[in-house]
Amino acid sequence: MSLLNSPTHYGAMTRFLHWAVFLLFVYQYLGANLMTRIGSGKTLFGLTQGSYYNWHKSIGLTLLALALLRLAWRKLTPLPDWAPTLTPTERAISHWNETLLYGCMILMPVSGYLFVMAGDYGIKLFGGFDLPNPIGKQEGLATLARVVHIVTAYATVVVVAWHVGLGFKHQIFDRDRFLDRMLPFVRR
Ligand code: HEM
Ligand code: HEM
Repeated sequence: MSLLNSPTHYGAMTRFLHWAVFLLFVYQYLGANLMTRIGSGKTLFGLTQGSYYNWHKSIGLTLLALALLRLAWRKLTPLPDWAPTLTPTERAISHWNETLLYGCMILMPVSGYLFVMAGDYGIKLFGGFDLPNPIGKQEGLATLARVVHIVTAYATVVVVAWHVGLGFKHQIFDRDRFLDRMLPFVRR
């Protein structure tokens, strides 16, 4: 499989970025639910609540870098044509859905970062390096960014469910092997 997309296939780079982002999103949701539920000073699987927070923040910033790389790759290299089995309405829906997916991939880490920096909670990147705080403590911004982070977390679930639903509808009911377009190591 070539690195670049072809007119009929997503290439290795797009597929790698797609599934790396998906796996890290799953980690973020699981990790966020753990870190907000274990009390401060408590440990779970040998990690403190503070470690879970730091991993959430560090992986979140990694996701921002991956989302920007992914967007740049999409804009700078050719995209495959639409799957021939998508109706014009499904193409229009997918176009808006993909725009929202990119919005979520960027808004989630940016709002998390602004919340943590404006709240002056700090980020020790991967447990080793304290990131500087370029904006300083701003309570109003911290509250707003936290609300955006939480609301977007729920909105992302809806947008991803809509995306996955369309894929499974084609794969299972239309039997057009639509998911092969993005699954790793699969080439029709
Ligand atoms: C794509 C990246 C990210 C995803 C998918 C994500 C997801 C989530 C989710 C699902 C929650 C729980 C929301 C709830 O209470 O229901 C959460 C909370 C939180 N996130 Fe993120 N997050 C991301 C990036 C970040 C980043 C980059 C930071 C900071 C640098 C961050 C800091 C936080 C903090 C501090 C909380 C706890 C909020 C509270 O007080 O309840 N997140 N995140
Ligand atoms: C965090 C979760 C997900 C995000 C953010 C996401 C995002 C995207 C985006 C933006 C695209 C357009 C191509 C690109 O720019 O890379 C895409 C394509 C695709 N995704 Fe996802 N995706 C997610 C999860 C999934 C899952 C769980 C599945 C399958 C069960 C899936 C199946 C597909 C397929 C088959 C395509 C190709 C669609 C087409 O050819 O029109 N995605 N995804």
